Amino acid sequence: MKSIKRAVGFLGLCSALLLSACNGDDSPKQTEQSQVKLQPIVIQGALPVESERMASKLDNVSVEMIGEWKFWKGTYKGYPMIISKTRMGMSNSAAATALAIQRYQPIAIINQGTSGGHDPALNVFDIVLGKFTTNIGAFKTPKKPIGDGSNALEWNEAFDVLPDDEADPEPIAIRKFEADPELLIAAYKAKPNYSKGKVVEGTIGSADVWNNELDRIDLLRKTYGTSVEEMEAASVAQVAHQFNVPFIGIRILSNNITNNGAYNPATGEACQDYVLDVAEQFMKAKSEIK
Ligand code: 5AD
Repeated sequence: MKSIKRAVGFLGLCSALLLSACNGDDSPKQTEQSQVKLQPIVIQGALPVESERMASKLDNVSVEMIGEWKFWKGTYKGYPMIISKTRMGMSNSAAATALAIQRYQPIAIINQGTSGGHDPALNVFDIVLGKFTTNIGAFKTPKKPIGDGSNALEWNEAFDVLPDDEADPEPIAIRKFEADPELLIAAYKAKPNYSKGKVVEGTIGSADVWNNELDRIDLLRKTYGTSVEEMEAASVAQVAHQFNVPFIGIRILSNNITNNGAYNPATGEACQDYVLDVAEQFMKAKSEIK
């Protein structure tokens, strides 16, 4: 059986080589043939300013609504691609991710968009490749009696919502989701083409919170090693992890109060252009393996 499979594989390789010999290696026909076999890559953005530019660059596009979640289905440079507008926040992005995985069986998911800097060395328009993505909004707070107030700087126990032992009612741990190595390689391949700022590896922290207290940001950075904060990536990572779908978060700084970096909405589009390039590199590598 194995040898039959090998022979069939060998014949396939021969005909592919013959085809490429006739058409030239870069012939669009040959490339498109291998591209259509791949499952689509999903790229998410929370807001219109973080998704519509990518959607406008798709060919053969159709729009699908599932509830209030919008998906553009099409191809980019011949590769199958879904652009997903998740809407803001952890629950919306989790729902959009579960729906996308069930509906499209993606080869990978990239969550991208704007973020706020935690690292003073990073400037507006710099891009963070989320080597790690982590939830910075799940805590068990210290006990205080009525009248003793509340101090978020004392919330130093991170609550892990995906514990190995679900019988443990208080799983205190920081969980970090690691980027898929092939997506990270693709992000490095696209890096030389990005000229609006630096592209660095880092940790993305997510919560349904916009932090404007510098002491709090400093504490989060010390505790979690965060480069930036935003409101979706860790939630997407958590769902993708449970479905075993390769994931990376990629975030551009649209603001950074640690170094007076003023909010710039043009960052949303810059990130989309970079991430389309990343997706292309990833799909190209995948189609070469196939
Ligand atoms: N803090 C939290 N979320 C931010 N976003 C951009 N900057 C920040 C920040 N400093 C992103 C979130 C959300 C929307 C408010 O913009 O991911 O989608």
